[in-house]
Amino acid sequence: MDFDHLKKTDPESYALLMKEIARQEDGLELIPSECIASLSVIEALGSPLTNKYSEGYPGKRYYGGNEVIDEIERLAIARAKMAFPGTVHANVQPYSGSPANLAVYNAVCEPWDTTMGMSLTYGWHLTHGWKASATGKFFHAILYWLRPDGYIDLDEVKKLAEEHRPKLIWVGATAYSRAIPFAEFRAIADSIGAYLVADISHISWLVIAWAHESPVPHAHIITTTTHKTLGWPRGAMILVTEAWVEKDPELPKKIDSSVFPGLQWGPHNHQTLAIAVALGETMKPHFREQNYQIVKNAKALAEALKWHGFHIVTEGTDNHLLLAEVWFWRGIFMQEALDMAGISLNKNTIPNESSSPFYPSGIRMGTPSLTMRGMKEEEMEQVAWFISDVNHVIQDFTFEEERKKEIIASFREFIRGNVEIQGIRKEVQKLASRFPIYHD
Ligand SMILES: Cc1ncc(COP(=O)(O)O)c(C=O)c1O
Repeated sequence: MDFDHLKKTDPESYALLMKEIARQEDGLELIPSECIASLSVIEALGSPLTNKYSEGYPGKRYYGGNEVIDEIERLAIARAKMAFPGTVHANVQPYSGSPANLAVYNAVCEPWDTTMGMSLTYGWHLTHGWKASATGKFFHAILYWLRPDGYIDLDEVKKLAEEHRPKLIWVGATAYSRAIPFAEFRAIADSIGAYLVADISHISWLVIAWAHESPVPHAHIITTTTHKTLGWPRGAMILVTEAWVEKDPELPKKIDSSVFPGLQWGPHNHQTLAIAVALGETMKPHFREQNYQIVKNAKALAEALKWHGFHIVTEGTDNHLLLAEVWFWRGIFMQEALDMAGISLNKNTIPNESSSPFYPSGIRMGTPSLTMRGMKEEEMEQVAWFISDVNHVIQDFTFEEERKKEIIASFREFIRGNVEIQGIRKEVQKLASRFPIYHD
């Protein structure tokens, strides 16, 4: 990839871009919501389509000069419906996942309506009603959780739904490694006349590759980011399924007017073209193969970490991610020490978390990026060794709420320039260099 113009015109920005590209190439990305956009997607994103204002929808724009943009958006919509058979309407304009979810509330709820979603600390997303999000401030959000074994507690979901009768129920997660029981959620939603909204941001690629049950026969509305496991540009889509026909024939119109003019103005046309390009890539033969490998790699990583003595929430995974418990609220230490070793992952709460999202007892990992670089089960074993080795180096550090400032400061001092961690970093770089991110 060359950025010759940028290099000439703005060396300072160019240098920063090169620094980040080198960081990505040199290290191992284990954050499950990250992956690698193809060069075609990157070309679409860097195109002059960003020059154009196009508020409105195909055939109904406010400004002129949008004939080609209309064709681009129609292409993205048609491919979205093809990728999720059984959907009758697709809106590809949301700027990202959070605005897409807010657009759903805005389409079907009034302020202070009761809604239901899983508690953030149990693995769901902030936008499903968490108190720090506008969705928890402007709606009366009831939160459900997981059983101690890490699986969804459907009895509790049903009990809470009957007690509070939410207008809308969210299903979908940001840190849940098991298959999502869409049919059971639909039965609960139907029993109280609620909308079922599936936020499949993390697993939409699995659904397209038929490696996870599709929410299409069950949910009324589906939202998904386009940049997580799919290798797509940052963005989101809202899909309306055939299930809406009985529930609310006006739903597609409500969704569209909720996105524009309800929440957004001009769509990001370069993003729309990149979504169309990425949707086209899902129709190519390697797409399914690669996605199955992502799951195989996640299972291999879970097994390897178990062998090293880590407890994996639910003992394994059905998808691309896994959660490992790190005792005594050591999530933050693991994240920072692994960062020093060139491995990026994130600290995460675990079911029945005894601490907070800031100092949690788990780490969350995923295999999309590594798999897209060509790594397989053998490399996952090596990655598990790196994680285990770093864990040993920092094993004497445990978190204490009362002494947190002092402990974190001395921990940072300890890992900075630590010889053992530097040694692991060299091995990480060696592995990464065998699997370049961008190659022809
Ligand atoms: C399940 C889920 N929904 C929505 C979002 C929000 O997406 P964005 O970061 O694009 O706003 C996320 C992001 O982590 C997510 O995991």
